[in-house]
Amino acid sequence: MEENCTLTKIYSFSAAHRLHNDKFSEKENKEIFGKCNNPNGHGHDYYLELTVSGKVADDTGMIIKLDVLDSIVMQVIDYLDHKRLDVEIDHFVNVRASGENIAKYLWDKLVDKIPQPAYLYHIRLWETSENYFDYRGEK
Ligand code: NI
Repeated sequence: MEENCTLTKIYSFSAAHRLHNDKFSEKENKEIFGKCNNPNGHGHDYYLELTVSGKVADDTGMIIKLDVLDSIVMQVIDYLDHKRLDVEIDHFVNVRASGENIAKYLWDKLVDKIPQPAYLYHIRLWETSENYFDYRGEK
């Protein structure tokens, strides 16, 4: 039977980045990335809304234990917290640390860590109070 209950938890972390691509000229980088190309980077307070789905267990009435979910997510987020993503995190040295790519990174890091029968359903990453990125990968 298809389960249609989800659980969403919100986590936050702070990180800095610079959007830049060596393939482009200095002028092109400025045109494409605007302020986000600032050579010394800039920071964001990111909010991650993480949604899991799965069977509601009869004995607990829950999809997943919250402390289990928290420890899985915090481990991934702590690695990024207070870092300059495009300098300190290998993954983002050659992959632009855009909201789109950070959302995908978080999905890829988390999708296999959520214990079954729960599973990762959706990720929403707020970069500012005015924009967010939704990501839902395979599986
Ligand atoms: Ni930015």
